[in-house]
Amino acid sequence: MSVLSDLSLLLGRAFESIGLDPAHGSVLVSNRPDLGQFQCNGALAAARQARRNPREIAASVVGRIGDDSRLADVSLAGPGFINLTVTDDVIARYVSAMADDPRLGVPAVSEPLDVIVDYAGPNVAKAMHVGHLRATIIGDSLKRLLRFVGHRVLGDAHFGDWGLQMGMLIVAAREHLPDLPHLDGDFEGPYTVPPPITLADLQEWYPAIAARVGADEDVATEARRATRDLQSGRAGYEALWEHFVRVSRESQERDFADLGVQFDLWYGESTVRCRLRPMVDDALAAGVALRSEGAVVVEVAEPDDKTEISPLILETSHGAFLYGTTDLATIAMRVDELDADLVLYVVDARQAYHFEQVFRAARRTGAAGGAGMEHIRFGTMNARDGTPFKTRAGGVLKLQDLIGMVTEAAIARLEESDLAAGYPEEERSTIARQVGIAALKFGDLINNRTSNYVFDLRRFTSLEGKTGPYLQMAAVRMGSILDKAVSRGLVPGPVLPPAAEVERRLMLRMLQLPEVTGRAVELRAPNHLAEYAYELASDFSRFYEACHILTESDSQRRASWLALVRANRCTLALLLDLLGIEVPERM
Ligand code: ARG
Repeated sequence: MSVLSDLSLLLGRAFESIGLDPAHGSVLVSNRPDLGQFQCNGALAAARQARRNPREIAASVVGRIGDDSRLADVSLAGPGFINLTVTDDVIARYVSAMADDPRLGVPAVSEPLDVIVDYAGPNVAKAMHVGHLRATIIGDSLKRLLRFVGHRVLGDAHFGDWGLQMGMLIVAAREHLPDLPHLDGDFEGPYTVPPPITLADLQEWYPAIAARVGADEDVATEARRATRDLQSGRAGYEALWEHFVRVSRESQERDFADLGVQFDLWYGESTVRCRLRPMVDDALAAGVALRSEGAVVVEVAEPDDKTEISPLILETSHGAFLYGTTDLATIAMRVDELDADLVLYVVDARQAYHFEQVFRAARRTGAAGGAGMEHIRFGTMNARDGTPFKTRAGGVLKLQDLIGMVTEAAIARLEESDLAAGYPEEERSTIARQVGIAALKFGDLINNRTSNYVFDLRRFTSLEGKTGPYLQMAAVRMGSILDKAVSRGLVPGPVLPPAAEVERRLMLRMLQLPEVTGRAVELRAPNHLAEYAYELASDFSRFYEACHILTESDSQRRASWLALVRANRCTLALLLDLLGIEVPERM
């Protein structure tokens, strides 16, 4: 049990004993540390409900707490706030329990769920660009966090590999390589020689053909026809498509590996292709889908809607299945085959309307079963002028180039600060890569995910302030204190009550971990972890400056401090791991 939950229990009983809801006893870390370490504001809400005076309620609650030996001070403030301060012995006891616990005091959930995190969403023929970055970084962190608290989590890349885009690429291939056997309707295969088409070709072809499909109805018809032929199993097209999929995926997996991101599933929209026809037919037969102007749609409007939500189109009048159709079938697959209880879609806020339609359709058609679906939306990464981040030439910046940029900047920083100097070349470049990626990820995750933020290379790579590199340095420093201790034969010992205010502050900070992770899970918001990691590292650094650990002459005190260093090192390593940030061995 954490200190907050124990204090909440104590206060809850006091509320209950005067006939009020124990939920009012909820205790928080104080936002006025000068008045107390913790506070309970429940008397105010209780008073509103009971139409009584909040200060009187607070006073009776305080009376009921009596003299609990854990509390050093209880006071009333303002209209009915209860301030609490615990004894130093109690702080030491909780910190000691945390330090001995492999989970650092964070409870595992009592009912683990099967969770799918749908994130990144790369597409065939497109190199990944900055738009995929936030989904990847946030999704990966949520996956790690949910797994840490005990859920069974699978991360799925949900590859965009089906639909009209594939037909468009086939049309483009026909224009560029008309003699390709894959395109010859009379040739029956086998297709032993892979088509001479690289990802660079696809990337070049795609925007051009997409523009022409938009402008020229004949080209659009041709693309639809090719899509339909592919979807009905034309062998040459299928072999060609498999090639598109392979070259795209190979490059994207390299990008993900550079970011330290791995997927448990690399399913695509095409994974559910056999479900599409029967799903649409069943929905029609069941009457949840209907024909409208030649298309098949599911009505999703609800009486309380403030704005109109139009029906989800399952099949167009041309007989094509759309993005929403594969999303709907994918939900059914996740529920039927993967037993999903909860699916999180970590996708750009601009797709909010799409997900609203799809979730509603999934509930109406029964595709979702009892599973929860949430759109974990996020804002954009902008350039300094507030517009979405682009290359100098105004093009979309490729992820690979962005990773190159942050790594370069990290190298410069390390040189500037004389870090990693004299290390073998290979280690230096590993460190630079780790620091660059940390800068990128932390620069993203420190923001509330729904806000936009400005990509600021100098700030992100700084070794001071709220940055990934600062936290890496802090973790490395903690590690090196522990290493030095080992080399001097010093070992951590029992945690003593704090001797100084900086130490007390640090210990109280450590004890916030369970609530912080709880909040991050509940709000699906890694920024709470990022913020806390920074606060912890700063409190540690103040402690470290004031308390000279290795040279402390009182051996029990020294051993206690070493135990604090070790627990802090574990906590920071955990937090950075949850943020997807690696810690170099040394810097
Ligand atoms: N491939 C999509 C895109 O680039 C993102 C996929 C998001 N996930 C989903 N289930 N729709 O916009």
